[in-house]
Parts: sequence; structure tokens; C-alpha cells
Amino acid sequence: MAGNIEWQPSRTLTEFRLLPGLTTPATSIDSISLTTPLVRTANGGTVNLRAPILAAAMQAVSGSSMAIQLAKQGGAAMIFCSQSIESQAAMVDRIKSYKAGFVEPRTLSPGTTIREVEILRREAGFSTFPVIDSEGRLLGLITRRDYSSLAHGDLTVAERMIPRDQLDVGVDATDLERANALLINGHRAVLPIVDLEDRLLSLVFRKDIEDHLDNPDQIVDQDKRLIATAAVNTHDYRDRVPALVEAGVDILGIDSSDGFSSYQRDTIEWIRSQYPEIPVIGGNVITGAGFEYLADAGAGAIKVGMGGGSICITQEQKGTGRGLASAIIGVVAARDRYAARTGTYIPVIADGGIVNSKDVVIALALGADTVMMGRYFARMDESPTTKLQINGRTMKAYWGEGSARAREWSTARYRHAAFLEGVEGFVEYAGKLRDNLPQLLSKIKAAMASCGCASISELHDRAELELVSDLSIREGKVHDIWQFGGGERDSLSNWSV
Ligand code: IMP
Repeated sequence: MAGNIEWQPSRTLTEFRLLPGLTTPATSIDSISLTTPLVRTANGGTVNLRAPILAAAMQAVSGSSMAIQLAKQGGAAMIFCSQSIESQAAMVDRIKSYKAGFVEPRTLSPGTTIREVEILRREAGFSTFPVIDSEGRLLGLITRRDYSSLAHGDLTVAERMIPRDQLDVGVDATDLERANALLINGHRAVLPIVDLEDRLLSLVFRKDIEDHLDNPDQIVDQDKRLIATAAVNTHDYRDRVPALVEAGVDILGIDSSDGFSSYQRDTIEWIRSQYPEIPVIGGNVITGAGFEYLADAGAGAIKVGMGGGSICITQEQKGTGRGLASAIIGVVAARDRYAARTGTYIPVIADGGIVNSKDVVIALALGADTVMMGRYFARMDESPTTKLQINGRTMKAYWGEGSARAREWSTARYRHAAFLEGVEGFVEYAGKLRDNLPQLLSKIKAAMASCGCASISELHDRAELELVSDLSIREGKVHDIWQFGGGERDSLSNWSV
């Protein structure tokens, strides 16, 4: 006989619905804050996100581009650790050295031909190139508007560029405010920045400045650099963590499908002893006992979920796992007991199988502080994969960290296992993060407004949820009509009415 048998079935997020509460001006969408703790810091404070969203530590999801763009919009991406220590540290370095608005340019020498510029432009996907001499000094700038590829193909860049003396240039303007002032007063869409010896440092584009000013939610450290979060494993952490710290990492997360282990405790304790200032996210766990164990080990946040990921076959292979809603409910109850007993609130991150805004808001209402998603972000431009055409549809590859493709890395989290825990597939391309995330966030806010909750902590305290039957789930979807947008007859003009 087993030690314990739970006869209540474990529940998924899909099985719950929120009941509306009283909406007032104080809980209108514009008054709602999505600020939420990501992880506790050593001094008892928290690192907060302004959007309760993390991108998963996966090869197909979180490289530096995802981390930069997500931090700019108030969230965070956890850089995957199934890669060499050097390449992961380089990704962290890229995030920390990212200066919003400042672009490290591709430069040309004055003798480059216009024909070569055209090839470069097509390869690079952008069309503004500064021209420098062999000492790196700025000679001019060439853009797509400065030449005709047909008429000028044999000419050199020097013959078509806008020369240095006709450019607006920022001398030693390394802070964005000064660069911005120069751009606003100047006449061009781009401002080259040079040092006192006229050597080119960077370019600042008017459109990027506008984008930067449009991102009041970005998550930065004390020096205004974007926050970098990176995953580590329980095998090579003694080598990996120092390299990541050297590169400037702010938060570490231990990437494990089953975090209720003494290996994980040892890893957390080692990091805490060597780098007490770096908060550590532990996980994944799905029980209150798992939470308590990692909390006692010193985790600053705990990730919850096993078996629910879109690419996950852990439940099929090992029979371990739990519906994400039940896992959150169990762990959040332990978190609240722990907080009452010790005075220490440890944020919970819900992870695996979160598909859309409805899932996010249910996870938050059940008590999660943030959510982590893989598939959702894998579909976007900022994920490290390239777009593919499959059967006329634009797709991106997505694979689990326990799939054959990811396990080529000896340090991957599934290294110990002789079998696969994840699969490889495709997801439909969804465009840029900034065209997707704001919609997701506004749907979360709309749900919170309906529930009469102006913050995530109010949602934790006041949300009312109900289990729904299969029939009501069906009723909650479109039914009994011919729907536009699905098949051949996807526009009213194709119908004779
Ligand atoms: P998704 O958002 O449903 O795609 O799930 C992403 C989450 O699945 C990640 O954050 C991991 O916790 C988990 N995961 C990643 N790779 C694997 C795998 O190969 N097997 C099982 N779970 C995985």
C-alpha cells in the first residue's frame, strides 16, 4: 500500500473560472498595478517585476534578445543553462551592457562599393552604416536614401556618404538624456556618438529613443542597467555561477524538473554562502513539503509545476506530476503558513502549461506571484530560433530541455536520465513581443477589474474561483454558430447574405 493516496483528482488551470467582484473607479483598468515580487533579496527586500511574466529557461525561448525586450516591458527572461558557461555568460553580459537607445553599429570603410553595401544591407536587415577610417574615426554615414543600387553600384561609399561635417554628432554623449536632446534639436533620424578623439562609439536612433521613452515599465538595477536572470544546474554550478556573476547576473534560478532534492539544497546553500547578494530561485516543486524544503535551504522564490509543459512528457514517462492548479494551491498554502510562522514571504512562480491570459490570471488568483511561459514566447521574433515556412504557415521550432535536441548539452537538467522527458515540435509564429505582451497584460488587467482587484496581492486575498464542469468549459467557447476567421469562409465577403 502506498504511503498516501489522494482521492481528489488534481486540477488544471482550465478547470477554474473567476467570479466577478464589485468594479469601482479604484479598480478600473487604468488604476490596476501588475507590480509583483519576483524574488526575495538577502536584505529582506524583493526584486519586483511590473509585469508578472517570465520567459522559460529554454534553448528555444530565452536568449539575450528575449531578456532585453522582456525586461524593457516589465518582465524577465531566464537565460537557459543548457549551453556552455562561456556562451551563457556572454548572453548575460549582452543584457548588462545593453544601453537602451545606444546601438553598436556595423561600420564600413570608405573604399567599400555600393554593390557591397547592398549585399550587406540585405543580410543585416538594416540600412544605416557609419563609415570610419582605420583608426575608428568617423568619416561619414550612408543610408539607403543616399544611393541608387542601379546607378551607383560601382561607386565607393566615400563618394555617396553624408560626410562627417554635414552630420549632427554627439561628442561624448554617453547618457541617453543628452543624446536625446541632441537628436530632438538636430535634423536627422540618427545620431552618431563619438569620443573626444572623434572615434565612433555608437549610434542613437530617434525611433529607439521614442521606444525607450515608451517603456516606463522596464526593470533595471541601481545603475539603470536591465536586470539579468540566468538558470544554473546542480552539476557545474561551482564553475558556472562565478562566470555568470562576473558577467553581472542579478538573479539565479536553478533549472530542475524536480527541485525537491538534496542536490538542489546543496546548490542553493553554496550560492548563498559564496554570493549572498544574489537571490536564488529554486524549483520546480509541486507539494508543500517541497516548498518548505527549498525555503529552508534559502531559496528566494520557488517555481511550481511538473508535467504540464506543452513539450513535456514527464508524466507519461515517469508517472510524476500534478495538475498546475492543484500544485499552486498546495504550494501557496505552504507559502502562507511559512510566512505566518517565520515572517518571510517567498514568492511563487507558476510554470508549465500556461497558454494564454486566462491561464495567467487564474494562476495569479490561485496565489502565484508570477508565471513562467515557454511556448508563448517561443513563437516570437525575440526567441533564438529562426522562422520556417511549413505547409504555407510561418512557424518557429520549439523543443523541451529534456528533448533529444536539448540534451546534446552535457549539463542539461535531464542529463542524469537515460530517457527523454520532452519533445520537439513547431509553434505558429506570432510576431514581435511588443505586439503581443501588451494585449496579454491588458486582458489580465481587465480580469482583475472585473474581480474588483487593483493589485495582484488584492487578487490573492479577494479572488473568488469556481471549478467548472466539462459542459461549462464547452459552453464558454464559441458554439452553435458558423464562425468567421477559421476556415475558407473566413470573411463576410465570401458569403452570400
Ligand atoms: P510551456 O509554457 O507550457 O511551454 O512550458 C514551459 C515549461 O516546461 C518550462 O518552464 C519548464 O518548466 C518545462 N520544461 C521545459 N522543457 C521541458 C521538457 O523537456 N520536459 C518537461 N518539462 C519541460
